[in-house]
Amino acid sequence: MASVIRSNERSGSSSDHCDTFPAATKHQTLSKPLPRHPEDPAAALANARHEFGEHGGVNMSIEASATFTVMEPETMRRMFTGELGPDRDFFFYSRHFNPTVLNLGRLMAAMEGTEAAYCTASGMSAVSSVILQLCSAGGHVVASRTLYGGTHTLLAHFLPRTCNITTSFVDIRDHEAVRSAMVQGKTNVLYFETMSNPTLTVANVPELCRMAHDKGITAVVDNTFAPMLVSPARLGADIVVHSMSKFISGAADLIAGAVCGPASFVNSLMDTRDGSLMLLGPTMNPNVAFELAGRLPHLGLRMKEHCNRALVYATRMKKLGLKVIYPGLEDHPDHVTLKSMAIKEYGYGGLVCVDMETEERANRLMKLLQTCSQFGLVAVSLGYYDTLMSCSGSSTSSELSKEEKEQSGISPGLIRMSIGFNGTLEQKWTQFEKALSKMQDPTKGVED
Ligand SMILES: Cc1ncc(COP(=O)(O)O)c(C=O)c1O
Repeated sequence: MASVIRSNERSGSSSDHCDTFPAATKHQTLSKPLPRHPEDPAAALANARHEFGEHGGVNMSIEASATFTVMEPETMRRMFTGELGPDRDFFFYSRHFNPTVLNLGRLMAAMEGTEAAYCTASGMSAVSSVILQLCSAGGHVVASRTLYGGTHTLLAHFLPRTCNITTSFVDIRDHEAVRSAMVQGKTNVLYFETMSNPTLTVANVPELCRMAHDKGITAVVDNTFAPMLVSPARLGADIVVHSMSKFISGAADLIAGAVCGPASFVNSLMDTRDGSLMLLGPTMNPNVAFELAGRLPHLGLRMKEHCNRALVYATRMKKLGLKVIYPGLEDHPDHVTLKSMAIKEYGYGGLVCVDMETEERANRLMKLLQTCSQFGLVAVSLGYYDTLMSCSGSSTSSELSKEEKEQSGISPGLIRMSIGFNGTLEQKWTQFEKALSKMQDPTKGVED
């Protein structure tokens, strides 16, 4: 251990805390029974190792170095062969493991209940590096038809062209179709999102993972839409990916991603000869890792308020006669599924969709909501403290063909709202009603 210079006595709290507060090690495989009452991610986060700063600061220090020195040159060889690694505090270059990014990874692992995690420069780099690590040329993925547009395009167009990795898209609610699309010995990955863009389809995580495992296939779940409320790995997923640019950031100021899974898999991503993260290099800046580590402790509180307001507004919008899609409403086809997976205290997610039928009506309502009543902002993305609204068919899902949009249930007038928590609930609701009444009164213009 003496061969790496350690500047920080206190941050070596691993030795103090490791035995009592290990990072979560509850990676579920289907050979283990699933927990009846999944651990609350907030409790797991609070139990994760607390890293102190170099001078005893309550926050961890930022390790900004790109490269690391060793006392004995021989140590370098041992690090490059993988014999000495970050688990024992050996670091050599920050495109490989960086201590600050690794600390954030430990928190993500605790939150998701996986053995390990590492963070990346974006959600897309987390998604692509996982697929590339699990599939070789000629590999095969079975994926949900309802995915974030970028992931869909990666699987439908980019990977077939560049790597001959092909994907069969299926309706994730049709379990028979999923089962028959997965070919034992040929399919490498079952890929889906806990809650997916833009129609808020909810996947039955335990059932889908069980089906994948029956055929020896790795289940990868994107949990960007449902952090804290659903923990896919605690429900059977092998690997969980995140775009941390959304709810986890909460401020729409950072682009970041994470891969959570077994330590062996996370290490394989960083293999100097074969690792997709190591060799493609979508490295998270340690300053970004520091920022995000300070936001995870209040993610649970924020999610509760996103979810609370989303449920209240969705219920009221429905009463006003709007066509609302929200998995917290009993008429949503996946309400029961989500209820069975989500931790009750958090709720049913922060996204609400309103179908205005035509793009023209959707644009008019969004313009009124932004300009005349300040209910929210017309912008893509989600998880911001203010409400964000976008017309999915012409924005985040515009990559899909007309047929693909129809198959995924994306109407041209579908507005996706990521419900914020700024202002008061009633203040914001009054703003919504004001815009809607103008919308329904054709004599009034947007600026009236
Ligand atoms: C579900 C989901 N996964 C992945 C991504 C990609 O994340 P990023 O923008 O951080 O690269 C997004 C982005 O919108 C997303 O919504």
